[in-house]
Amino acid sequence: MGEDCACCCSLSVGIVIFILGVAIIDWIKRMQRGKASLVGEHVVITGGSSGIGKELGIKSAERGAHVTILARDVQKLEEACKEIRSRVKSSSQNINFFKADVTNYEEIESVFRRCEVEVGPIDILINCAGYAFPSKLEDIPLHHIKGMMDINYLGTAYAVRSVLSSMKSRRKGRIVCVSSVGGLVGLYGYTAYSASKFAIRGFCEALQMEVKPYGISVTVSCPPDTDTPCFEEENKVKPEETKLISASSGVFPPAKVAEDILRDTLAGDFFTTTGMDGNLSTMLNAGMSPMSSVFGLLLQTMFSGIIRLVSLGYLYSFNRIVENCASKKEKRKKLE
Ligand SMILES: *[C@@H]1O[C@H](CO)[C@@H](O)[C@H](O)[C@H]1NC(C)=O
Repeated sequence: MGEDCACCCSLSVGIVIFILGVAIIDWIKRMQRGKASLVGEHVVITGGSSGIGKELGIKSAERGAHVTILARDVQKLEEACKEIRSRVKSSSQNINFFKADVTNYEEIESVFRRCEVEVGPIDILINCAGYAFPSKLEDIPLHHIKGMMDINYLGTAYAVRSVLSSMKSRRKGRIVCVSSVGGLVGLYGYTAYSASKFAIRGFCEALQMEVKPYGISVTVSCPPDTDTPCFEEENKVKPEETKLISASSGVFPPAKVAEDILRDTLAGDFFTTTGMDGNLSTMLNAGMSPMSSVFGLLLQTMFSGIIRLVSLGYLYSFNRIVENCASKKEKRKKLE
């Protein structure tokens, strides 16, 4: 009896040590992949003239890549290009820009063909073009409901579609689509925005299954609030409830967000995010998403239940904020 117990005990300890060992080795390998050089690689970034897109251009240039940025405003593109060029590792790196509107399929396709001829095939496509117009649904100008869907979702789908056949035939490529924490959780003020960002997440999950046999990886980035020109614009129209709800999560610098995106993309992760709230949101939204890391899988398996419980605490406090704001508005109305 006692012997059985000791045997069983050492077997369990053995299994735990084995799993931990595998997880640690996997974690170290993943870190190494994340540090990979980009010398000779061609990185194309939509929405690359400002914010996270521009920072991704800088980080890619610092790792030795040829960088092409796309956006609509030529003046901003020129300035961003200059900034990216000042951070290259070697003078042989090609840093270019093209004027392009991601909502126009023919245009984006012809721009991609041109930049493939001028610089070379696209190794990494980063879809960063997007914007947010936070508002209650009943107040939002109609063109923004369509605009966010067009730029955030269609812009991503169009750009990816026009690069796929070349990536598939080369059996090489990485696709990054920038969604948002708002693409994982639906919060007050982001009704129309979240729809466009949830779309990207579903798009990526199905896409990765389509391209996996060709050695192409897909990463969906879910950044939290990031200190960009776009975020400044957003804040001008943001409802009070939305401001209060997001106040606890903080605002991250775009350089940090870009660094995380690039590292996790090169590591081959499906989800990438920055900060703890973003991390918990991706865990809550694991669903049927692919898993590339043993360590991440272990964490998810052990903590998903408890994180769901914690999420209810957040939800409770967010609902309180919305209720308080609603009753304040009622009172104000009565006074008038
Ligand atoms: C969340 O944090 C864990 C632990 O640091 C890490 O292994 C995992 O990759 C993170 N997930 C994302 C999506 O960043």
